[in-house]
Amino acid sequence: MSRFAMPLLRWYKKAGRDLPWRKTTVGGVPPDPYAIWVSEILLQQTQVSTVLPYYHRFLSNFPTVQSLAAAEIDDVLKCWQGLGYYARARNLLLAARRIVDRFGGTVPLTLSELLTLPGIGRSSAGAILNIAFSQRHPILDGNVKRILVRVFCITKDPKERQVTEKLWRLSESLLPKTRADHFTQAIMDLGATICTPAAPKCDCCPVSRLCKGYQKGLQNKLPIRPVRKKTPHYDYVCAIIRNGEKVLIKKRQETGLLGGLWEFPGGRVSNLCSDASPSRGSKVGMGFIGKSLNEIIEKEVGQSVALTPLGLEIKHAFTHFKMTIHLFAGSVRKSKTQLPLKWVPIDQLKEHPFSSAHQKIILKLQNVRQSRRDLWCG
Ligand code: ADE
Repeated sequence: MSRFAMPLLRWYKKAGRDLPWRKTTVGGVPPDPYAIWVSEILLQQTQVSTVLPYYHRFLSNFPTVQSLAAAEIDDVLKCWQGLGYYARARNLLLAARRIVDRFGGTVPLTLSELLTLPGIGRSSAGAILNIAFSQRHPILDGNVKRILVRVFCITKDPKERQVTEKLWRLSESLLPKTRADHFTQAIMDLGATICTPAAPKCDCCPVSRLCKGYQKGLQNKLPIRPVRKKTPHYDYVCAIIRNGEKVLIKKRQETGLLGGLWEFPGGRVSNLCSDASPSRGSKVGMGFIGKSLNEIIEKEVGQSVALTPLGLEIKHAFTHFKMTIHLFAGSVRKSKTQLPLKWVPIDQLKEHPFSSAHQKIILKLQNVRQSRRDLWCG
């Protein structure tokens, strides 16, 4: 066993985290590859503490591949609401259906078969096979990349293709012949608890003696990050269109950002006049240039809409951009609609999966309802 694996495994035995996906069983027999697959998808780009409640909820709603395959997309997205990266939820559903159709309802146990399933890349496939079936496959998630970059003192951008290929080779080279499953989870824990992105705890690290980055005092500088462009900010408008106790919502297309989630109708505005900037919110609505506000909303709802600014806005940040959504009250003449539009009683909004930004809108409207009964309570 390598000089790296031995101290890491010893450390893991003492300090490894007690996580539910490490104790899965099917019919009392461990492990459950389905639960491990679900956990690996939930854990993509998301921290353990955030994932824990989602993991339990997801498995109690969809305890088997079959139950997931039979689910409606809305129910799966509802379970995922607030976690972000919703393509993961859509892909889980598609993959479960494919497992039922093509693999007799059992999670496949070869790398090439797993890689045919939507949402499963090389690292997730390796982790699933490793943890669920004790197969020896390397992984290269964000934690492992960071550890390898520090241990081998790689000063190039890890996103470069050649550097990534080198990291895969290094990950493979460190993987021991036996106990690869423990090794994989040990290195994940090392990245999450010791070799953290900021202020790594090198004093407590079981492999610091082997870490070239630490020896050179570069642990806080690695991995190098190319200079980030400033995150762009966009203005959006959206309309709360009421018909008595009901409000008009719209389902987003199944593919793309936030695909399949419900929203209040609206869209991005190309520009705001300076006198309509969010900081001078009361004028918002008069000051958009480019496509008019009405055009944006009317395109969404397919008929003319009378709009009044509510003087309310919400802010939301995605990884790649920030948004301010300016809220308007709207009314329409024709109440007949068809999907993707739907009139929903206000108290049934919670049954629909909304993006986090639009959940903030619902919260905001609930918070102001005392003073603005006209707006939300009918
Ligand atoms: N991150 C990704 N997969 C993980 C796992 N199985 N345990 C802990 N953190 C993880």
